[in-house]
Amino acid sequence: RVTPVGCHLQGGVSVKKIGVAGCGLMGAGIAEVSARAGLDVVVVESSQAAADAGRERLAASLRRAEAKGKIPDAAAVLDRIDVVTDLEALADREIVVEAIVEDEAAKVELFGKLDRIVTAPDAVLASNTSSIPIMKLAVATSRPSQVLGLHFFNPVPVLSLVELVPSLLTDPEVAERVRGFARDTLGKHVIHSQDRAGFVVNALLIPFLLSAVRMVESGFATPEDVDEGFVRGCAHPQGPLALADLIGLDTTKAVADSLYEEFKEPLYAPPPLLARMVDAGLLGRKSGRGFYRYGEGRR
Ligand code: NAI
Repeated sequence: RVTPVGCHLQGGVSVKKIGVAGCGLMGAGIAEVSARAGLDVVVVESSQAAADAGRERLAASLRRAEAKGKIPDAAAVLDRIDVVTDLEALADREIVVEAIVEDEAAKVELFGKLDRIVTAPDAVLASNTSSIPIMKLAVATSRPSQVLGLHFFNPVPVLSLVELVPSLLTDPEVAERVRGFARDTLGKHVIHSQDRAGFVVNALLIPFLLSAVRMVESGFATPEDVDEGFVRGCAHPQGPLALADLIGLDTTKAVADSLYEEFKEPLYAPPPLLARMVDAGLLGRKSGRGFYRYGEGRR
């Protein structure tokens, strides 16, 4: 495989091999930007069906990028990505970005496994979590100094921000190297956050989204009017309910739960309407219905 670019992550050794855990909305996006940057990418999913779906998600996104002229050859980029189900395939990765479901127990279990499996010298274990304290994941490993948060935004190929979140135990030199990797290799803009639930952006965004859900729940305004108000009145590219649908209502609720758990402030408490929609499987864009309907001729 050809790896035209890389960055100096460990003692002058250029990063060539990245691993991603999870190939959902975010994992596929992280894999895509990594492969587009020329890295060799291994993505691990939890089942063959999920791996197949993840690979198709990647292929479709790359085809769109090629059609828009953003990349010359989608097939060549896809060729740099392996989507597999065996976690052992991550053994030689220099950096692994975890992007599985926003569930603390699942992530803690995975970090314990990654710690045993990923044996490349000085390999870094990063999490794309939106809200789970990085320290909870770091202490599940024997190398907390090499664990940090690397929080991308959806859609990853489009949005340029990454939040870098070192825990109290992260080696500052590791954080600096990962910052350089995100900036120079992946072409992202990096902001720095302390290890508090929600980091910078979600700590501000989630209360806003929940307020919009409460407006709909109380009958105060329709989703269309709330969203149009923000698009036309505040020049937001999309309104809060369309954004919640894009993020995924399950993920939005999970992030709110973590923020509420951490701060115990009512503004972070998920409204019952959001919880019932998640119970009903109305997860937003990814399930075809949330505050809006998606698919055939809609949105
Ligand atoms: P998703 O539900 O689209 O994808 C999660 C994927 O992880 C699924 O494909 C699932 O099969 C897989 N998975 C679950 N357990 C696994 C395991 N043990 N090993 C391997 N794969 C496993 O969720 P999404 O939206 O991609 O979120 C992933 C992470 O990214 C979460 O921590 C979330 O908080 C974070 N995040 C989400 C954003 C969003 O806008 N959706 C934005 C930034 C971060």
